[in-house]
Amino acid sequence: MCGIVGILGRAPVAEQLVDSLKRLEYRGYDSAGVATLENGGLARRRAEGKLKNLEARLGAKPLGGHTGIGHTRWATHGKPTEHNAHPHATERVAVVHNGIIENFRELREELEAKGTVFSTETDTEVVVHLVDSLLKGGVAPVEAVRAALSRLRGAFALGFIFAGEEDLMIGARNGPPLAVGHGEGEMYLGSDAIALGPFTDTISYLEDGDWVVLTRKGATIFDKDNAIVHREAIKHTTATALVDKANYRHFMAKEIHEQPEVVGHTLARYVDMATERVTMPVKLPFDFKDIQRVSITACGTASYAGFVAKYWLERLARLPIELDVASEFRYREAPLRKGDLAIFISQSGETADTLAALRYAKAQGAHTLSVVNVPTSTIARESETVLQTLAGPEIGVASTKAFTCQLMVLASLAIAAGKARGELSDADEASLVHSLVEIPRLMSEALTAEIQIEKLAREISKSRDVLYLGRGTSYPLALEGALKLKEISYIHAEGYAAGELKHGPIALIDEHMPVVVIAPYDKVFEKTVSNMQEVAARGGKIILMTDAKGAAEATIQSLVTIVMPDMGATFAPMVYAIPVQLLAYHTAVVMGTDVDQPRNLAKSVTVE
Ligand code: F6R
Repeated sequence: MCGIVGILGRAPVAEQLVDSLKRLEYRGYDSAGVATLENGGLARRRAEGKLKNLEARLGAKPLGGHTGIGHTRWATHGKPTEHNAHPHATERVAVVHNGIIENFRELREELEAKGTVFSTETDTEVVVHLVDSLLKGGVAPVEAVRAALSRLRGAFALGFIFAGEEDLMIGARNGPPLAVGHGEGEMYLGSDAIALGPFTDTISYLEDGDWVVLTRKGATIFDKDNAIVHREAIKHTTATALVDKANYRHFMAKEIHEQPEVVGHTLARYVDMATERVTMPVKLPFDFKDIQRVSITACGTASYAGFVAKYWLERLARLPIELDVASEFRYREAPLRKGDLAIFISQSGETADTLAALRYAKAQGAHTLSVVNVPTSTIARESETVLQTLAGPEIGVASTKAFTCQLMVLASLAIAAGKARGELSDADEASLVHSLVEIPRLMSEALTAEIQIEKLAREISKSRDVLYLGRGTSYPLALEGALKLKEISYIHAEGYAAGELKHGPIALIDEHMPVVVIAPYDKVFEKTVSNMQEVAARGGKIILMTDAKGAAEATIQSLVTIVMPDMGATFAPMVYAIPVQLLAYHTAVVMGTDVDQPRNLAKSVTVE
């Protein structure tokens, strides 16, 4: 999660770029850099570490120019050195980038075969050379970027400037956010409205797949099909910019849409994408080989993340897992022993029951490992090992992005455990990491189902009860789907293991009962289809979420099928979480509830 900014100004811009980067430093501070057009040529200053290092460098060697881009980096590919710092540039083009170019290796090989010499370890450099090779061949900058964008896969935001083009800047968004700022004879690009706060209060947000050509006169925005589109310019006050909902109606909507980015950010902390290895950011004070027994404890949504992790740890590391909700764990006197591993999951890091369970496990002599979003929280402070989720502040009371970031950390941990216990080979690890790297892009694709889900929500809002079914890792996701729906729409919902239906809940099915079936194409898919048949035979209205549309519809007629991107099934919960959350969100919007602060709930539950 890097921060990017761009200015087409009327005066020298280097200082303004740094001011703006200061507001983006929360997005990463491994290194920073700016590039401007000095007398028509590209010039850069970059520095490792915090922004003050870049400021010192600019103090010693100032940078002129009225056109510039800046970047504060949170390293994904390549070490956080000055050499790998953005902007990346050739003599023709300079680029800042936030996100992941998934197919960078393939593009790099292709460019190298044509004689391009790469000088960094970053994925960003392929973008620079891709555009540069087109410019060199005489293609104009706008066309070159258009062509290059069509080759890129992944979740990214980009900003470009070009030698000899004083009045041109191009931005592109595919996943991570990018805002366009409108000034008086000046135009801006930024990762968020906060970054542009010192210059303008008039912001247009690019939508996914959009790209924009800026001149000092204004912005021309294109959608993913290269058609010109209008994106409304919104006035921001400082107060709204600070707790920024962007152009979303609710924080929850913004947080759902942020997931490709924050999950990508979390991913980058736990895996080395270049070598396709898991790299824990902290040294674990135990060896998974020696661990006999693991407990996972959490509350609510976090406990469902733990439930998914149970499937992963048992399958990938052959580790037996005991799963508890924290309010039960602390009183059932679970027999933990010295050397056992107790895992706790919490967004806030302050949940009273989870904290009490942690203290109990510590008192029993177990190793304690917490997956938390707030690194200064009590649970983080009191745990032996902390694995942070990088979801950023989650304001909506219903947890969304923290959940998927928890899953990303837990998936990485399961791979590390499998590797340490000799259950996974190097090749297995590489293939699993490869699947993880694809998740942010697949999440972006899953978000495109929103319009369909919005319509479906009108239907669901008429229901009194809703059932959610799933098998394998889709079972905990069914529980999460039901929780999400009931807590924000106040419609009663239950999640069940699909195979459990016939043991009781099937009695509830009639033509008024929507049944959401979460069915990625995995080894239990056919069995889930059989359970759907049982529902259909009793008149239940099936809402199917699957990537196996053809296979499922051949045997069953669903009311609605939400087609998910093609993917391997192992990490499907991270991607299927998106339609599950969107369905709850849009149903709540139709019901007119207070989506971000549902009745009776609190974000941080610090009482028993
Ligand atoms: C549901 C939700 C809650 C929390 C639970 C634990 O959307 O947000 O169920 O997951 O209260 O909170 P943390 O993760 O802060 O410990």
